[in-house]
Amino acid sequence: MPKPLKLINPFKPTAGMTPPVLIGREGVIDDFVDGLDKGPGAPSRLMRITGLGGSGKTVLLTQLGDIATDRGWTVVNVSGREPLCASIQEQLAHDTQLRSLDIKISLPVVSAEAHLGGAAEELSFREVLTRATRSLTKHGSGLLITVDEVQDASHEEMATIATSVQYMVREQQDIGLLFAGITTGVLDLLNGEGITFLRRAKAEELASIPTDEVARALRKTIEASGLHIDDDALAYAAGQSHGYAYLIQLVGYYVWREGRRHSRESVTITLADARRGSEIALQEFGSSVLETAISGLTKPAVDYLLAMTEDEGASSTSEIAKRMGMPAPSANTYRRILIERQIIESTAPGFVAFSIPFMREYLLQHRADILARYGA
Ligand SMILES: Nc1ncnc2c1ncn2[C@@H]1O[C@H](COP(=O)(O)OP(=O)(O)OP(=O)(O)O)[C@@H](O)[C@H]1O
Ligand SMILES: [Mg+2]
Repeated sequence: MPKPLKLINPFKPTAGMTPPVLIGREGVIDDFVDGLDKGPGAPSRLMRITGLGGSGKTVLLTQLGDIATDRGWTVVNVSGREPLCASIQEQLAHDTQLRSLDIKISLPVVSAEAHLGGAAEELSFREVLTRATRSLTKHGSGLLITVDEVQDASHEEMATIATSVQYMVREQQDIGLLFAGITTGVLDLLNGEGITFLRRAKAEELASIPTDEVARALRKTIEASGLHIDDDALAYAAGQSHGYAYLIQLVGYYVWREGRRHSRESVTITLADARRGSEIALQEFGSSVLETAISGLTKPAVDYLLAMTEDEGASSTSEIAKRMGMPAPSANTYRRILIERQIIESTAPGFVAFSIPFMREYLLQHRADILARYGA
């Protein structure tokens, strides 16, 4: 009897996990590679990556960082949720390449004032970054800094980093800076003071990935794993992902799982499998992402969201206040809370929209259940 195939689900529906096929990123990768080759001052060495939660920002930063590492660059990855300058300095102090070049980098001073953006701390950071970058450039290498979750970063620290990097670019040193975050948070940062330099960053907005590219990648992934998929099943699954990175993995994962159930009889994923798998994926998306986002909101905040569902596109904030029967300033309190929790975003002055895919559909569908939680 032939040994049964060992089938392992290749999809990765987990935040930050590199997917089996990186879909729709050839353009930005080519730009970045060109930037590395062109030398100091190339525009794509300074890049901002924006998109909704789950649109693939972290994965893209990892990918670009790997490319730089392969070319011998030193790559430092930090997140806006940690003290940025101290963390960069610490990683440089432990960097094996700098050590092998016998470049000594001092560790950040941990003081009570640390990451309050004190002048001394700022000077020491600039000094460290300069020393590291000059040495790496001299030895044919370079320094790439990636900052994820920029929406949570301290604006002072981003300004310090921007100034130091700009100084190195002006000196024609080999340095790159990539920063990624939720679109509105990044725009907030760019509107702040002291970071004019960052506004010049090449903008890469991770919008939805075309369905045909999704379909090609799904087929390739499924076939490499030992299963097959019918054309109609493939078209259905690709469509259900709506080109949204996280859903591509989630739909792929559950559709594949349906196919494996009957792999002893047939290794081909059918339309029925694709329908069942997609339904589970969307349910899972609802309970993990959408439910988590709205859990614990107060009743008026939920009312604000429900009032927004009347609009297919962006909602006028004054119109929402009217629908809620509230004076505009009171409604604005809830708008602010919802923006802070990254459920909605301001698309233009006086307008808001949902910042999580399918939130509107989910609220419309579960309106009664949600209201029942508040005794309504
Ligand atoms: N280009 C891509 N093609 C296919 N799948 C992708 C792609 N980019 C990311 N993914 C998948 O999408 C999911 C989310 O990716 P990632 O964590 O990078 O998103 P994010 O934008 O950083 O989200 P968050 O804002 O929550 O940090 C992961 O499951 C990942 O495997
Ligand atoms: Mg991320």
